[in-house]
Amino acid sequence: MVILARGAKETKAEAKESPSSEVAGRVKSGIPGLDEMMGGGIPVGSLVVLSGDPGSGKTILCWQFIYEGVTKYNENAVFVSLEETEETIYDGALGFGWDFRKLVNSGKLKIITIELYDFERLKTAIEDNVKAINAKRVVIDPGVIFRLFFDRELDARKRIMSLGKMLKSIHATAIITNEIALDQMTSLYGLEEYVADGVILLYHTKIKNRFYRSIAVLKMRRTGVTENLKPVQIGSDGIKVLSKSEMFTEVG
Ligand SMILES: Nc1ncnc2c1ncn2[C@@H]1O[C@H](COP(=O)(O)OP(=O)(O)OP(=O)(O)O)[C@@H](O)[C@H]1O
Ligand SMILES: [Mg+2]
Repeated sequence: MVILARGAKETKAEAKESPSSEVAGRVKSGIPGLDEMMGGGIPVGSLVVLSGDPGSGKTILCWQFIYEGVTKYNENAVFVSLEETEETIYDGALGFGWDFRKLVNSGKLKIITIELYDFERLKTAIEDNVKAINAKRVVIDPGVIFRLFFDRELDARKRIMSLGKMLKSIHATAIITNEIALDQMTSLYGLEEYVADGVILLYHTKIKNRFYRSIAVLKMRRTGVTENLKPVQIGSDGIKVLSKSEMFTEVG
């Protein structure tokens, strides 16, 4: 069954683009319009890489994935931040009305902020925290920093694969962010994408003399995906995927 959150706003042509669902267990991203691009949500246990250029909204999407997951779908979450402090995360998320401190205090969210250290210890910390609150969602932001753990690409792939396996074994669905430069959009993607079950791309597209935020689902194992790029909007309540007709109104 195809779920159309935008209801009447969805045109017939766009509804046809929505891929069919092949697996039953889905984790809803909670981003309006995104789940319809991948058959109703992310297949449970997937390791998804969220790639994007600077300022494209990767962190906001991750916060929303966590907040909606906990508050709307009753799925606890673990947020691993390799860059920000707990305080800056609380402040940033609260700017969108997402009270992470409250979620942490009620035992529904665990935030791990760590310095760059041993990868195996990081993996163990994630596993322990996920098990402690029976988390269903894990976010690692920015995940690209993983590369700094390893000298050799083969090592990196092996270790990230082992992280993915561990998360699957405890039925956690994970998003790892990855920074890519605008001018590298057409070049080969990083190693995480090869190892990952899914890749979501968030970036700026140039139309006429302006940049527009766009989203695409490049790959999602075990499900069909919408191949078209869609416009996205960031506002005071977070990120949402717009329909094509809304984009045309925007581009004018
Ligand atoms: N309330 C808001 N309304 C509209 N846009 C906003 C709002 N708050 C933040 N933004 C936009 O969101 C973008 C930042 O998003 P975010 O930090 O998630 O990006 P990112 O991809 O994680 O960036 P980085 O590569 O620096 O980590 C900024 O470009 C900013 O303009
Ligand atoms: Mg960020």
